[in-house]
Amino acid sequence: MKKVILTGDRPTGRLHIGHYVGSLKNRVALQNTGKYDPYIMIADQQALTDNARDPKKIRDSLVQVALDYLAVGIDPARSTIFVQSQIPALSELTSYYLNLVTVSRLERNPTVKAEIQQKNFERSIPAGFFVYPVSQAADITAFKADLVPVGDDQEPMLEQAREIVRSFNAIYEKEILVEPEGIFPPKGQGRLPGLDGNAKMSKSLGNCIYLSDDADTLRQKVMSMYTDPEHIHIEDPGKIEGNMVFTYLDVFDTDKEKVADLKQHYRAGGLGDVKIKRYLFEVLEAEFGPIRKRRAEFAQDLPAVYDILKEGSKKANKVAEQTLREVRDAIGINYFD
Ligand code: TRP
Repeated sequence: MKKVILTGDRPTGRLHIGHYVGSLKNRVALQNTGKYDPYIMIADQQALTDNARDPKKIRDSLVQVALDYLAVGIDPARSTIFVQSQIPALSELTSYYLNLVTVSRLERNPTVKAEIQQKNFERSIPAGFFVYPVSQAADITAFKADLVPVGDDQEPMLEQAREIVRSFNAIYEKEILVEPEGIFPPKGQGRLPGLDGNAKMSKSLGNCIYLSDDADTLRQKVMSMYTDPEHIHIEDPGKIEGNMVFTYLDVFDTDKEKVADLKQHYRAGGLGDVKIKRYLFEVLEAEFGPIRKRRAEFAQDLPAVYDILKEGSKKANKVAEQTLREVRDAIGINYFD
C-alpha cells in the first residue's frame, strides 16, 4: 500500500511565494513521484477558530486557495483535494480525542502560545482555537496519514497528534490509529523572508508576493524590496547579508554561478539596485509567470473548481467515515451494530 500523505492550509487569504517555497513545491514533487496517496485539505474549520466573526473571508479564500493549489500543479487526478468542514467525521473524532488531552498539555503548545500572543487574545482565547491542535490530530489520523509535510511551526501539532494516537491505541486496546511523521523543509530553507526584510512573509505584514499577482504587481514589488540602505550610489560597495534581492536570488535562481558573480560585483561596488532588481524580476517571472497563467485558466471556470473540491470531499468522507467506524467500535459505542 502507498504511504498516505496529509497536509493542508487555512483559507485566510491567497497563498504567497513563501507558501510555495516552504511547502507547495515539495507537495507537488511528492505527488509526482507517484509513490504516495496524497490528501490536501483546505482547513476552513480551523480558519474559523480565530475568524468566527469574519466567515466571508474564509468563504472567499477557499476558492482562492484551491486555485493556488491547481496553479502550482497539485493535480486532482493524483491528489485528493478536499474541504475540512465537509467531513463531519473529523469533528466527531475531535470530540473523542479531546478527552485524551489535558488543558495543561494544550497550554504548553509553543505554536499556539505564540499565536495567542500575536493575535492579542490575552484571556479571550476562543475555546475552539485553543483546542485546534486536537482537531488537527483528527485531520491527520482520519486518513491514517503516515507523512505530514508542513512548516517547522507545525512540529508541536505532530507531537500532539502522536501522543493522542498512542493514548487512543493503548486505552482502547486496538492498533487503529497511525502515528504520523512530519516532513519538514531542509534547514534554512523553510521560511522565505518578506519583501521588507522581515523574517516572515505574511499577509498581516503586507510584505508578500502572491502567486496570483500579475506581472506589473510583481515588478513593482520587486522594485520596492529591501536591499542595503547604505548602498546609495552605484559605485558604493553593497552588502549582501540581509539584502532581500540576493536572499531571493539564492532561493529562486538556479544559475548559482551567475548569482555568485553578481554578489561579488555588488560587494565591490558598481552594480546598481535597479539592475539586480530587474534581473530578479526576470528570474521570478520565469518561475511564476506560467503558474499565474494556469491559475487564470482555472479561474475562468470556477464551477469546475468547486466540482474538484466536491469530488475530493466525497472521497475523503468515505475514508474518514471508515476510520470513525473503527474508532467507535474500539470505544464500544457501536450499540446497534
Ligand atoms: N495548521 C495548519 C496551518 O496553519 C493547517 C492544517 C490544518 C494542517 N490541519 C492540518 C496541516 C493537518 C497539516 C495537517 O497551516
